[in-house]
Amino acid sequence: MKVLNRFHKFGFGIVFGFLIGFLWSLIYSYEGTSFFHETLVKKEVLPQVYVITPTYRRQEQLADLTRLGYTLKHVPNLLWLLIEDSDSLNPLVADLLKKINVPFVHLNGKVLSILIPNSLSFSNISARIPEEYQKKKGKPRGVSNRNLGLEWIKKNATDGAFYFADDDNTYDPELFEEIRKTVNVSMFPVGVCTPYQVSSPIVRDGKIIGFYDGWKAGRKFPVDMAGFAVGGKFLLSRPNATMSFVMGKEEEDFLRSLDPFEISDIELLASNCTKILVWHTRTQKNAEAPAIDVKYNDTNLVELRKILVLVWHTQTVKTEKSKQIDHEKYGNTNLEQLAKLIV
Ligand SMILES: *[C@@H]1O[C@H](CO)[C@@H](O)[C@H](O)[C@H]1NC(C)=O
Ligand SMILES: *[C@@H]1O[C@H](CO)[C@@H](O)[C@H](O)[C@H]1NC(C)=O
Ligand SMILES: *[C@@H]1O[C@H](CO)[C@@H](O)[C@H](O)[C@H]1NC(C)=O
Ligand SMILES: *[C@@H]1O[C@H](CO)[C@@H](O)[C@H](O)[C@H]1NC(C)=O
Ligand SMILES: *[C@@H]1O[C@H](CO)[C@@H](O)[C@H](O)[C@H]1NC(C)=O
Ligand SMILES: *[C@@H]1O[C@H](CO)[C@@H](O)[C@H](O)[C@H]1NC(C)=O
Repeated sequence: MKVLNRFHKFGFGIVFGFLIGFLWSLIYSYEGTSFFHETLVKKEVLPQVYVITPTYRRQEQLADLTRLGYTLKHVPNLLWLLIEDSDSLNPLVADLLKKINVPFVHLNGKVLSILIPNSLSFSNISARIPEEYQKKKGKPRGVSNRNLGLEWIKKNATDGAFYFADDDNTYDPELFEEIRKTVNVSMFPVGVCTPYQVSSPIVRDGKIIGFYDGWKAGRKFPVDMAGFAVGGKFLLSRPNATMSFVMGKEEEDFLRSLDPFEISDIELLASNCTKILVWHTRTQKNAEAPAIDVKYNDTNLVELRKILVLVWHTQTVKTEKSKQIDHEKYGNTNLEQLAKLIV
């Protein structure tokens, strides 16, 4: 009798165990459906960060993209829209993107090549700078690329946030975690930018009271291209959003095109704008490489010349000493913390 009892308990245990296992496998097989996904298998889904990077062929391009690409690789749920101002995709850039293996979309003037892991598709949109601007000395560079990025976001993104990240800046991966929090429009400080060596909203008691930027030029939003991010849903609610081809007014005109959007609507990131997570470093321009003497036409130099120059040497441009921050005027604002970060 005792033995039978024990067997009963034992058998019940086995049946119960199987039942649990069966239910568990059922839940897992339904993981894709939202009910099980949200209530039983809680996986944190981070909002997507879209990074729009305009780029063009120049001596420093591959060096800059190498640095930026490996920075972006540290950030989860990020999609890099790399948009070339060119008529054909630069195969060297395409190879570099594949090598870095960060989720990306590689766009250019004639081909739109989407290479999100496991997917590949093409369509035709132009990111070339319009002809009327091509011959101008002060070209509004990157505008057509960024506008193409905006079109892509409008078509493909339903949430998350996007950011215009030039290829020659320096980014702390933490910046993208901040950008992820963006609902409508967010702003944050940019280091080594303008004669003040920092461009930032001025924040007192958690509220924006103005802008600290060495080049205001009568702008309503005197900020750098690297100093703001915009929510995907917000962009969809602003179908007229676009960047203009007016040199020096790219940021201003874009932010104005987000109307209705006021200074008081700005979401302040980077701990109330006390941290610098992006630096407007610029890569020194290098001259075009000379032709190689034919006496080397059977050496490795032939291959190197195809990549770019014989000497692959980049230097960061020296920046000036910043202006003193007026501590009396800006007492109790984020500028007191920012002042410690600049020279
Ligand atoms: C893109 O343009 C090229 C040449 O202009 C054409 O051959 C190709 O079919 C186009 N592709 C798409 C997807 O429209
Ligand atoms: C993005 O939009 C374009 C144009 O509508 C489309 O061809 C492409 O497949 C979309 N990409 C993704 C990842 O949804
Ligand atoms: C974003 O905009 C919407 C609509 O204007 C507003 O209701 C909401 O409070 C804004 N969100 C933030 C975080 O500012
Ligand atoms: C920003 O400042 C406000 C007001 O002082 C404070 O309540 C808030 O917690 C601060 N936010 C962050 C992220 O530090
Ligand atoms: C977009 O611009 C057009 C033309 O200027 C204007 O009529 C329209 O009201 C604007 N739409 C929005 C949503 O602001
Ligand atoms: C290199 O240049 C020499 C002299 O001009 C020529 O004879 C030879 O064919 C060239 N070799 C290659 C690989 O181009």
